[in-house]
Amino acid sequence: AVRRLDDQLGRPLRDLRISVTDRCNFRCVYCMPKEVFGRDHAFLPRTELLTFEEITRVARVAVAHGVEKIRLTGGEPLLRKDLHLLIGSLGGLRTPQGAVPDVALTTNGSLLARTAPALRAAGLQRVTVSLDSLDDATFMAMNDVAYPVAKVLDGIDAAQRAGLAVKVNMVVKRGHNDHDIVPMARHFQGTPVILRFIEYMDVGATNGWRMDEVVPSAEVLARIGAELPVEQVPANYRGETSTRWRYRDGSGEIGMISSVTGAFCHSCSRARVSTDGKLFTCLFATSGHDLRTMIRTGCTDDALAETMAGIWRQRTDRYSEERGRSVRTPPAPGERVEMSYIGG
Ligand code: GTP
Ligand code: 5AD
Ligand code: SF4
Ligand code: SF4
Repeated sequence: AVRRLDDQLGRPLRDLRISVTDRCNFRCVYCMPKEVFGRDHAFLPRTELLTFEEITRVARVAVAHGVEKIRLTGGEPLLRKDLHLLIGSLGGLRTPQGAVPDVALTTNGSLLARTAPALRAAGLQRVTVSLDSLDDATFMAMNDVAYPVAKVLDGIDAAQRAGLAVKVNMVVKRGHNDHDIVPMARHFQGTPVILRFIEYMDVGATNGWRMDEVVPSAEVLARIGAELPVEQVPANYRGETSTRWRYRDGSGEIGMISSVTGAFCHSCSRARVSTDGKLFTCLFATSGHDLRTMIRTGCTDDALAETMAGIWRQRTDRYSEERGRSVRTPPAPGERVEMSYIGG
């Protein structure tokens, strides 16, 4: 029998999220604001990135410790050349029970039309596409690179044609895209796409987060429910970030990710690996543990496994629950890592 790896609060390690690049072709205002991520912004040089072999090695050790789900994120993961090769090697991993880990991908959809068939052929089963509006003016103001809605919808279509299951993530920011909540719900109603509404979070130190720009999930739900009646359904698994809701007429499912008004740290089983190979035990951590140096100085798999287990056993993070609903004092630049680097 395999011993369960628990942290200080009794939470098992189940989920590994890997940022495969800190670059993105979008500049979403809540994630990579242009004023900070401008033309002269220094992204990580290629030699600092974990290679696919190194990523697979970290993932193999994590899977041996109980990880059942691996999510590739970024930045925009599809900007990483030949990502399908990484998907292929991750698909070769097996849990101690002999199961194939669930591999998922979070993407802005811009490169999906081109890559979906190869991703599917490499074994990927599902993608999560970010889309914040159906209206070009609103969407372009949020992605800040004038990227049109239609191209993301094309990417979603291509993913579905290739046989990938699709979820859509919409970050709701008051005064920016909240007028699009019900239209988005209507658009995906009656399709297999699960649309999830995400509360705008105070992650990183650059987005200028303010509590009054958060639209609480309760309000999103009320606005939808007034027009399209919904009822709650049970979670798919313990520690799911999203609560699940189905249209009463059977026309589909939506989700609410309430990271601000309904923190879910108590069941958080997620570890993150940054683009340069640091292990983080919370999205809001200020520093990570350097696995890359260990790997590149020739450590054994046992040593890597022991280090990762030790870090997880020590873990006490519960940032979102501690912050509660209070208005936080803004972090100093650099005080907190950015989501594009640590992996959403
Ligand atoms: P499924 O595997 O489909 O259930 O997806 P998921 O909910 O695990 O992952 P997804 O990448 O779709 O997460 C959606 C969003 O939830 C992220 O982009 C974040 O905004 C938020 N989120 C995910 N994990 C965490 C977390 O550990 N802490 C906080 N505060 N927010 C998170
Ligand atoms: N608040 C909430 N979610 C965010 N994401 C990025 N920045 C934020 C933020 N400030 C998430 C979105 C997006 C994914 C790539 O990262 O869900 O879809
Ligand atoms: Fe890029 Fe996604 Fe961040 Fe937008 S949210 S800037 S698409 S990584
Ligand atoms: Fe997990 Fe940290 Fe997010 Fe809480 S704030 S759910 S501990 S990553």
